[in-house]
Amino acid sequence: MLKKKYTCVKVDQQKDGITWVIFNRPEKRNAMSPTFHAEMMEIMTLLESDNDTKLVILTGEGVSYSAGQDLKEYFRETDGKPEVKAKASNDSKWRSEKLWMYNKPTISMVNGFCIGGAFTHCICADFSIAADDAIFCLSEVNWGILPGGMVSKMVTDMFSQRDAMFYACTGRTFTGKDAARIGMVNYSVPKKNLKKETLKLAKELLEKNPNVLRATKHAIRAVQNMSWRSAADYLNAKGAEIKIRDAARGHDAYAEGIKQFIDEKAYRPVFSPYVGAADGKTTAKGGKARASAARKPQKAAAAASSSTKTIKAPAMAAAAKKAAVKKAPAKKAAAKKPAVKKAPAKKPAAKKPVAKKAAAKKPAAKAAAAKKAVVKKAPAAKKAAAKKPAAKKAAAKKPAAKKAAAKKPVAKKAAAKKPVAKKAVAKKPAAKKSAAKKK
Ligand code: ACO
Repeated sequence: MLKKKYTCVKVDQQKDGITWVIFNRPEKRNAMSPTFHAEMMEIMTLLESDNDTKLVILTGEGVSYSAGQDLKEYFRETDGKPEVKAKASNDSKWRSEKLWMYNKPTISMVNGFCIGGAFTHCICADFSIAADDAIFCLSEVNWGILPGGMVSKMVTDMFSQRDAMFYACTGRTFTGKDAARIGMVNYSVPKKNLKKETLKLAKELLEKNPNVLRATKHAIRAVQNMSWRSAADYLNAKGAEIKIRDAARGHDAYAEGIKQFIDEKAYRPVFSPYVGAADGKTTAKGGKARASAARKPQKAAAAASSSTKTIKAPAMAAAAKKAAVKKAPAKKAAAKKPAVKKAPAKKPAAKKPVAKKAAAKKPAAKAAAAKKAVVKKAPAAKKAAAKKPAAKKAAAKKPAAKKAAAKKPVAKKAAAKKPVAKKAVAKKPAAKKSAAKKK
């Protein structure tokens, strides 16, 4: 726990391991002075080995995330003082070298202005979430320098060449929404939801095994500029590091994760980390009941409402089922009708691009697909299709036509041979629409 008070930064430590580091010069739009950098370097160094800190969120007090380097204190007042300048420059590396390979997950929450040198910590934090209306700007070109301090390098690595050139040379502002589009931040959200969404991500990360997460984020950073061979070696070594770090807390993520999925059916890796990943507890140490419960639909669904996880398998299945029942009565009914009768009407309609597009956009259809995937039960039609490979391909796109195709190969072929009739339909949008409606 950090006890010290700072002049330019506030540190707010939550009980759950989330530590807020808040740039606190709102009157100067959180511009970064040499004092600010010295404090930040100290804070980030201390937090990296602070037992009460599992994850760091960086943000700014007031209307600004950070207005970049302090033009007066960082630049003008250090001119002609090489030692002072060098120290300030060195301290400012908390944003780049330190953050880039930080041992704990970091999130930058861009609440407002993010200018020039502030791009560095926005980019070097592991994750960035911005308010939709946050203002980003590479203002350097407007006041007489190029985006130095590695900002030019970072934006060319992160943006497309077009975007990097455009924003660096014009100095035009762009919003949080734009930042998400060009890949500067992970996503943007309305300002009123910014804190909530940031905490949601933070809590999701805190549920992972910290040693696995740490090795993963280091790996994603490090392999970027390695040869194939070096990357393979690095990743092997990092894998071993996870084992060593886990062993130090009497744990083995790899063995535990597989055991809980394969033997205990305690969780699904696609939807959540294994039980006890965060704290290193194994189900063998009394976690079994907890683990088993995790896969029971009702309990997991209830947990989903209080949890921060984006997707819970059983809850998703239930939601998908509900949606399918409510929103797709037509589809359900169609599925129950005998395929032989349905085929002639459905077949030509299925070939119409309009009808096809509409079907693709139907959330009910999506929900039904999700339900199928999660519930795992292979419907009878699916099983039948699996036995008839030729019909299967067609069926994947046209559920109703699938059955017909499987049963009526002759009719299908005949339809395929009638290009004239098909063309005629394609040229008659009115007829097409009515056909779709009939369907
Ligand atoms: N350096 C020093 N002081 C700053 C900085 C900065 N980067 N940014 C804002 N301030 C100061 C202002 O001088 C002003 O101080 P004052 O009250 O003593 O006059 C105060 O913060 C408020 O600034 P305003 O301009 O009045 O605030 P406003 O909300 O209208 O505008 C904005 C905010 C757009 C960020 C504007 O202040 C601005 O353009 N700042 C410069 C940003 C910049 O170019 N930073 C350098 C990037 S390049 C690099 O980092 C290497």
